[in-house]
Amino acid sequence: MEKVIRNEEDLLQLLDLLLEEENPINWNAFYSDRERKVPFFVQLPDENLVRYFQSKSFTPQKVLELGCGNGRNAIYFAQKGCRVDAIDASSEAINWAREEADKRQVHVNFMEENLFELSLTPHTYDFIYDSGCFHHIAPHRRMSYIALVKQALKPGGEFALTCFIENGPLGGSTLSDLEVYQKRSLQGGLGFTKEKLLTMFQQEFEPVEVIEMNQMDPTSGMFGVSGLWAARFRLRSA
Ligand SMILES: C[S@@+](CC[C@H](N)C(=O)[O-])C[C@H]1O[C@@H](n2cnc3c(N)ncnc32)[C@H](O)[C@@H]1O
Repeated sequence: MEKVIRNEEDLLQLLDLLLEEENPINWNAFYSDRERKVPFFVQLPDENLVRYFQSKSFTPQKVLELGCGNGRNAIYFAQKGCRVDAIDASSEAINWAREEADKRQVHVNFMEENLFELSLTPHTYDFIYDSGCFHHIAPHRRMSYIALVKQALKPGGEFALTCFIENGPLGGSTLSDLEVYQKRSLQGGLGFTKEKLLTMFQQEFEPVEVIEMNQMDPTSGMFGVSGLWAARFRLRSA
């Protein structure tokens, strides 16, 4: 039956349909071969996270990770003593993450969930983290994403993400929001300038830092590649 727009969710779904790609990223297929040469198929935390924990003032108790993949950052949060909920839409990713947590005997509440279908108790988390998921979110879903993060954080809570630098070495696409719909594609993941990131988040969040991720040697025990922003924000008070 022809789709008739009756409400906001119908509109969002219609735009999802418009952007349905011929070759969408199939995250289950992506995570089904764990031997693939994918830089983040490692069990190392992001270097920026390790740096946050080096500051005495960074002491999150309750953490949520969005798009947690194989669990490398969620497990690190748990090893640092946090209570962690971590979600990913891919069952393959979540299975892998659970196995890694079991191997290390740490507890993380991993959940196979689409972040747009999450039902979270408001004001639950001290810190929400997203490493590499946000740049796969289409512009029309951005408001829901920001609303979810805003609602789930405790007052004064923080949110951080890593995402593609526009036209950077990892290929973050240079598409404007308009061009996404004209070309009907995210071209593998949206790239952002610092200004774009600030424009998107600064109404709800105060920027703490927006800097480039440092490239790291894996022997450092940390994950770091150039081509990503590591952006950290604090929820503005109401
Ligand atoms: C580039 S991977 C990064 C994985 C992990 N954060 C890491 O850095 O190793 C992006 C992840 O986001 C997840 N993802 C994408 N869209 C999602 C959505 N709407 N809800 C939940 N997870 C999603 C994918 O399944 C994938 O695991």
